[in-house]
Amino acid sequence: MLEIVKYGEPVLVQKAQDVKEFGRKLETLIADMHDALKRDRGIGLAAPQVGVSKRLFIVGLDDEPLRVFINPRIIASSEETCEYEEGCLSFPGLYFGVVRPSAVDIEALDMYGKPFRLSADGLLARVIQHEYDHLDGILFIDRISPAKRRRALAHYSRMLNM
Ligand code: NI
Repeated sequence: MLEIVKYGEPVLVQKAQDVKEFGRKLETLIADMHDALKRDRGIGLAAPQVGVSKRLFIVGLDDEPLRVFINPRIIASSEETCEYEEGCLSFPGLYFGVVRPSAVDIEALDMYGKPFRLSADGLLARVIQHEYDHLDGILFIDRISPAKRRRALAHYSRMLNM
């Protein structure tokens, strides 16, 4: 089983590299990430969170087939924003509201290297943007005000020491 990398590990703040090879090895990585996602009851997981600095993430919403996004590009974001409480498997137990665009259009490759395009809103748009950020080394604590970030990190370190 893949271990989820926690906040503090350098891989989480690195810019990930494009996936160039498709095939059995990639399919195995995706299957292992899917298992880790289910085990930890998450809804999204990016490859850097399992220590693999590649541009790939998965989204697994309830009752929906797993979605795989490889070398994704967000090509449009709505002007309308909304706040939603987010968590992150790399910060277990930490949740806070993050403001992001309400809808996005994204282009990516599927696990076989086939391009697709998707317009997403609601929870799907939210998870896509959170996971996409991981590929650029951006964490959800980077999407809030400095004051709120200090409070969130202080709360997180208190939780870790309990
Ligand atoms: Ni995350």
